[in-house]
Parts: sequence; structure tokens; C-alpha cells
Amino acid sequence: MPRRVYIKTFGCQMNERDSERMLALAASSGYAPARVPEEADLILINTCTVRRKPEHKVYSLLGRLEHLKRTRPELKIGVAGCLAQQEGPALLERFPGIDFVLGPDKIRYLPRILGELGENGKRPCIVGFEEDPSQGVLLPLQTKVRAYVNVMQGCDNYCAYCIVPYVRGPEKSRPSGEILEEVRLLAERGVKEVMLLGQNVNAYGKRPPDLTFPQLLAKINEIPGIERIRFVTSHPRDLSDELIEAFGKLEKLCEQIHLPFQSGSDRILERMGRGYSRKDYLEKVRKLRDAVPRIAITADAIVGFPGEKEEDFEDTLRLIEEVEFDGLFSFKYSPRKGTRASRWVDDVPPEEKQRRLEALQALQRSITLKKNRDLEGEVMEVLVEGKGKGEGQMMGRTRCFRVVNFPGEESMVGKLLRVRITEGLQNSLRGEPVA
Ligand code: 5AD
Ligand code: SF4
Repeated sequence: MPRRVYIKTFGCQMNERDSERMLALAASSGYAPARVPEEADLILINTCTVRRKPEHKVYSLLGRLEHLKRTRPELKIGVAGCLAQQEGPALLERFPGIDFVLGPDKIRYLPRILGELGENGKRPCIVGFEEDPSQGVLLPLQTKVRAYVNVMQGCDNYCAYCIVPYVRGPEKSRPSGEILEEVRLLAERGVKEVMLLGQNVNAYGKRPPDLTFPQLLAKINEIPGIERIRFVTSHPRDLSDELIEAFGKLEKLCEQIHLPFQSGSDRILERMGRGYSRKDYLEKVRKLRDAVPRIAITADAIVGFPGEKEEDFEDTLRLIEEVEFDGLFSFKYSPRKGTRASRWVDDVPPEEKQRRLEALQALQRSITLKKNRDLEGEVMEVLVEGKGKGEGQMMGRTRCFRVVNFPGEESMVGKLLRVRITEGLQNSLRGEPVA
């Protein structure tokens, strides 16, 4: 019987990709993936600490695993990801059931750890940051229609609220040759769409010097077999004209951008240290829409940042009304260890944060629904990803990343279809393939 590994992932796409890398490395050390935690010899938890909520979920899972370990002492447990970096050896002290701790920039050492696992009571803790921006080319064990590809690690922005620079380290760009090689191999395996990942992709190629991000996109655009390219995340301050132009020029680059604004109030943006004003943000949106009229724009926003007054919050609502985002991820502010904002009084009461979040989400829901309904009757290009909701239904995504459910069969997976939109719902579209 091969040994089996189960991995539980919290947090962002970056973490999902890191989990794939860990599974691939574990496979090279003789661990097959387990379908459920019960059949695993090794459980890996890939953690997130970006806000209080995911961090809280991680801690409650660790508590449950401590119990499990008492009933199955031979089970090995490893903690990876951002909490591993944040807490390091303290995790081993607090949770005696944990066998090792592995920081997000140290994934390459997983095989070494697995080789030594259980040796005379060792409990390794490998954290910190590597100078080397290379990650090697490591494909997921199972490829799907869409694949994540890391282009950058870390972040140098130090926004006042954000833990990422502390847990993911300084910004570094992965060598373009390695990225292109990985995309080529993914295409050979049947991947049709790549999602390029970085905390601030616009800074690609600065350290160490390499192609610019738009140049990298142009090279990926030439790789046969790849039909679509997307990327996350862009910082509005660094969104260059060169990148905006790339949307018009590169036929595989999808008309979609995630451009977090965080707040619509200049006073709060200043305190957050975002490096742009409300006007600057709106100007970037205008440029994007001038260049690509139908571009889908999504964003992140925070409510209840320290010092946020009612008028600041209303500025955020007005910005949302003005831009009419295609989708919005919104969060209540929570202080994060070691950040600048964590030293300021968290002065918006929890009930008020909740009220603001609900008001913002209600506004966005009405915008999203209206935008989805406006698509009814249109014929859109859909890349089929898999089974949809309901009998005989398949699902895929438009170039603007909306989910479409439509009648079809499994042989359609990986194909580009033309689908007429018959109904715009709150979170998805319904459609019918057209000849
Ligand atoms: N509190 C609330 N939301 C936060 N985010 C990042 N840090 C915090 C925090 N301390 C949000 C931002 C970011 C997204 C990934 O999480 O909106 O864009
Ligand atoms: Fe969470 Fe940020 Fe780490 Fe992603 S990089 S897992 S969002 S803390």
C-alpha cells in the first residue's frame, strides 16, 4: 500500500497552486493523494492569515486534528502556508500533534522533510525566504482545463492593513524562461487557459530584471494550444498603459481584470498607503474601458478600516455605483499582527462593520444581477470546464469569467463553444449552445 497524503487548502489561488506543488513533491516521495482525510497517513494544512476569519478557521481545524492525532498517533501532520511563516516554531509548541512546519517560500524542502519524517522525534520547522526566484517546473498531478501559473512571489507594497509582505516575503519574479516552459508543458497536457498569479503582477520583471509583464504575456500568447490567458492581481498604482494596450492587442488575453480599490475615500486610501487617489483609480478604469469597452472589472474592498467615518464609507458606495463592477469581494477590516494599522485603534464597532459590509454587498448584488441580465440574448464564447448544475448540464466560463450553465455532454470539456445567454442570474448565466 502506498502512503497517502491529504491536503486542506485555505486562502487564495496562490495557496491553491502551492498545494498542487506540495502534492506533486509528495508524490515524488512516494505519497499518493488521499480522497478523504481518514485514509491519509499524512495531512498537510496549507494556511492563510490574510484576515481574522481564515486564520480562525485554521486554528479550529488544528484543534480538531490534535484530537484525531490522539486516536491515531501514527498520523503525520504538517502545517504549511502563511500561518507557518507567521508563527513558525510557536505552532510546534502550541500543538504537540504537529510534526512539521513549512513556510510558503520553502516548499522545495518538502521531500527532504518527508524523508526524515518520524526520525528520532525530529519536528522540523523550515520558514523564511529564499533569494532564488526560481521554483523549478512542477506540473499538477492532474491537469484541468485551466491551470494556475506562478509568475511572482511576495510583495513590497506594505499597505497598512496587509500581512502579505511579512508572510510571503519580498517581491521576486520567477524567470520568464521557466514560466514559458511550464506553460508549454501545460498546453501539451491539454490545458487551455492559464491564470498567472502574483500579488502585484505589474511589477513583474523588476527584480531580478526580466521581460516586462506585457512582454511576458505576448510570449505566452504565442504558445500553441493555450486559448486564454488571465492574471491576478493588479495594483491600480502600477497598472501601466503598456498593459492596458496589451488587452487590445493579444487575442488570447481575456477581457477581465481584478483591480482592488480597497476604499473610495481619499482620506482612507492615504492612511492605507495605497499610493493612488479615488480620481487616479477612476482614471485607470476609464482608460481600461476606452481601450477595451467590454472589459469585466472586479475588485476587493475593505469596510471599517481604522478611522473610517460614515462619509468615507459613502465614498466607497459612490465609487461602486460609478464604476459598476462586474463582481466585488468585500471584507470587514481585521487587524493583522505586525502591520502598521494593527497599531491604530480598531475604532469601527463590529456591528457597524457588519452593517457597512451588508449595505455594500446589497448594492453590488443589484449591480451584478443587472449586468448579468443585460447579457441575455447575447452569444458568448464559453470554454467548457466540466459538469454543470443539474442533470445534463455542463458549465464553462465566458472570456469575462462569468459561469455559464448549459445543456451539453462531457465530450465538450476543453472546447470553446458559442452559447446564447438565455437567463442572467445572481451568480451565473444560463445558456444554449448555438451552431
Ligand atoms: N482586513 C480585512 N481585509 C483585508 N484584506 C487584506 N488584509 C486585510 C485586513 N487586514 C483584503 C484586501 C485584499 C484581500 C486579499 O483581502 O481587500 O485585497
Ligand atoms: Fe492568505 Fe495572503 Fe497568504 Fe494568500 S498570500 S494565503 S491571501 S495570507
